Amino acid sequence: MDQHSSAPESAEARTGLATTVNEARSGDWWRDAVIYQIYPRSFADGNGDGMGDLEGARARLPYLAELGVDAVWLSPFYASPQADAGYDVADYRAIDPMFGTLHDADALIRDAHALGLRVIVDVVPNHSSDRHEWFRRALAGDPAARERYHFRPGKGPSGDEPPNDWESIFGGPAWTRTEGGERHWYLHLFAPEQPDFNWEHPAVQDEFRSVLRFWLDMGVDGFRIDVAHGLVKAAGLPDMGDTGQLRLLGTATLPFFDQDGVHEIYRSWRRVLDEYPGQRIGVAEAWTPSAERTALYVRDDELHQAFNFHYLNTGWDAAALRAAIDESLGSLGAVGAPATWVLSNHDVVRHRTRLGGGHSRGRAASLLMLALPGSAYVYQGEELGLPEVRELPAEVRQDPAFFRTADPVGAAGQEGLRDGCRVPLPWEESGSSYGFGSGGSWLPQPAGWGALSVTAQTGDPESTLELYRTALRLRRARPELGDGEELEWLPAPEGVLAFRRGGFVCAANTGTGPAALGFPVGELLLASGPFDGGATLPGDTTAWWVRG
Ligand code: NOJ
Repeated sequence: MDQHSSAPESAEARTGLATTVNEARSGDWWRDAVIYQIYPRSFADGNGDGMGDLEGARARLPYLAELGVDAVWLSPFYASPQADAGYDVADYRAIDPMFGTLHDADALIRDAHALGLRVIVDVVPNHSSDRHEWFRRALAGDPAARERYHFRPGKGPSGDEPPNDWESIFGGPAWTRTEGGERHWYLHLFAPEQPDFNWEHPAVQDEFRSVLRFWLDMGVDGFRIDVAHGLVKAAGLPDMGDTGQLRLLGTATLPFFDQDGVHEIYRSWRRVLDEYPGQRIGVAEAWTPSAERTALYVRDDELHQAFNFHYLNTGWDAAALRAAIDESLGSLGAVGAPATWVLSNHDVVRHRTRLGGGHSRGRAASLLMLALPGSAYVYQGEELGLPEVRELPAEVRQDPAFFRTADPVGAAGQEGLRDGCRVPLPWEESGSSYGFGSGGSWLPQPAGWGALSVTAQTGDPESTLELYRTALRLRRARPELGDGEELEWLPAPEGVLAFRRGGFVCAANTGTGPAALGFPVGELLLASGPFDGGATLPGDTTAWWVRG
């Protein structure tokens, strides 16, 4: 079916709907928004085929409105052979049949808006799928199509060595040799099924502005930009002169990441976003060597937010967290952008497991994040306190990183392997796939998953779900939470960080033993674990007070 021709009618009505939501809640909504990441294949299955879909997600939107988030971000649901769970897009304007249709997307956007939720979708501009029409034409020898990707002759007398020494983020060389014809090589910073676009080419630039408009016309409120730092490569594609390049990600300047040329692209995207009413936003997934380099993506003529991977990568350590928070607020404040905070997503070990210290520490980290000034990202299932699932057998895994890692079984703590954070959500205590859907689940859920389900936790004041619900309700009621760009640190004992914002105080004890707070506490609003509200904060606990 050609989904383009079956796109729901009345673009005017669709944008009008979004405008109504946007006007109803004016202001820079994104500066302090809590944005919930839906990973569609694992969120909720509407048609009972074991794979999450748009219909399932739409049915669960009231749950998200009640949870108290401001927006949802959906990971890719576009037509894709799923070599990298949808981050290999074959058609940017069509929905993969496994997720539904454009009509389903339209219905989801409409329902979300009616519930007061904004909708952010993923855009994947660094690479396409190898099944994208342009790449298929390129492989068939069409010279115009080849120019839209990076094809190069190989090195060595018979051209059988890659054109340079770049390594794929998923392991192995970043080049694959084509079969037949000239037997040239093409660049793929990720899997071989994800060829990198040549962003020097005007057709690539035009195509993505058109894709943005397609989805903006559908009524979306913004885009999460995949590999935002990767689009422009250093001229001449120079060798790195080094191996093990993965270890340099986010710490060093690389010839394929964070090149200055990317900013002109985002300036042009900002002009497109600004053509639409109601503050449509761009969020960069940008891995750069420093907070200052990340801040460049959110200058006032570029994007609105960038993910704070530095914060995500900071361990549960008061001094390190304080330094990361100061650095983020300082560098982003310098360009007038809000900070963002994130602990979990579909690419990393879930924070409850990653931080060590289990349940209590995971909850304490969540409550600290939700108190910080700026916007917070919540990955589906973290509100249920889900741990990483480590025991997945190789035959059920789908992450290309698993299959390209030399010794995946030995990989420490699953770091770099991503199926364990993608196990479908438990909605109910029992039944087929714990309420995920009527037809099982594409990754097996652990026994006991039902005890962590939405129904099991609802109404239980000790549950992580109710902790998130209360925290988000307080966040909406108190402007000191989220809004703004500054905080005032309070003197605190080693292992504790404490800050004040207006009439609000937050302290987090990253140690395992109790700590005596050196400041007067007021009325306790919320605590991540058992706590009497007094001057001694238990280990692995975060508390919120009204200032004393
Ligand atoms: C970042 C995405 O979050 C990840 O899941 C994906 O594999 C890579 N980009 C490549 O698109």
